[in-house]
Amino acid sequence: MIMIITIDGPAAAGKGTLAKNLSQKYNYAYFDTGMVYRAVGLEMYLQGKDLSDQDSALKIAQNLTFEHMHELAQNPDFRSALGGKNASIVSAYPEVRAALLKMQQDFATAPVFADGTPAQGVIYDGRDTGTVVCPHADVKFFITASAEVRAERRYKEFLQKGMKADYEEVLAEVKARDERDANRATAPMKPAADAIIFDTSNLNINEVTEKACEVIDEKQKR
Ligand code: DC
Repeated sequence: MIMIITIDGPAAAGKGTLAKNLSQKYNYAYFDTGMVYRAVGLEMYLQGKDLSDQDSALKIAQNLTFEHMHELAQNPDFRSALGGKNASIVSAYPEVRAALLKMQQDFATAPVFADGTPAQGVIYDGRDTGTVVCPHADVKFFITASAEVRAERRYKEFLQKGMKADYEEVLAEVKARDERDANRATAPMKPAADAIIFDTSNLNINEVTEKACEVIDEKQKR
């Protein structure tokens, strides 16, 4: 049986790092679901479409393939602040979300690593993976931290990548993104009823990973 683990939470809470640590430790495939929305947002931008043009966003979502998503991921704007903002805007369109759902769910039926090797489990990271994408996941985590702590982490990440950044701007963007992601009508970001919640404001990533592993190991014993 394929083990499904979901990690949801706001931007820069540490979901990606936790997901990568867990996928290494358990040898499970990893699906960063923010990529599907980043791909649609970036394609809108590259095609010169207005982000409010929901029909164009829907067409792009309907035609999105894994291959094209990975090609788009090579573009510097895929991971930039602009890329995150555009992703958050298009992700609020219910039809866009519906069009991208199957692609995300199908991954769990036959998860694979980047080189195509099959995996015995999958780690999802996103905003609604425990609530909508995989409501029947075996283990669900919700990772959060204060907006200030998350902005500080994102700010340092941008500087490390050699990108220009201003802390106050990053903080404002983190807060604006939280607001959009948590208050949209369809699949708003929220912990699943059965999610285990970690606040990483005062925990480092190794401590979070250790706690998550305890939960997973316990689940696997049963
Ligand atoms: O995790 P991220 O920063 O790459 O996500 C970019 C945006 O995509 C995020 O602001 C909201 C949206 N998103 C979503 O709505 N549902 C998901 N499962 C993942 C991301």
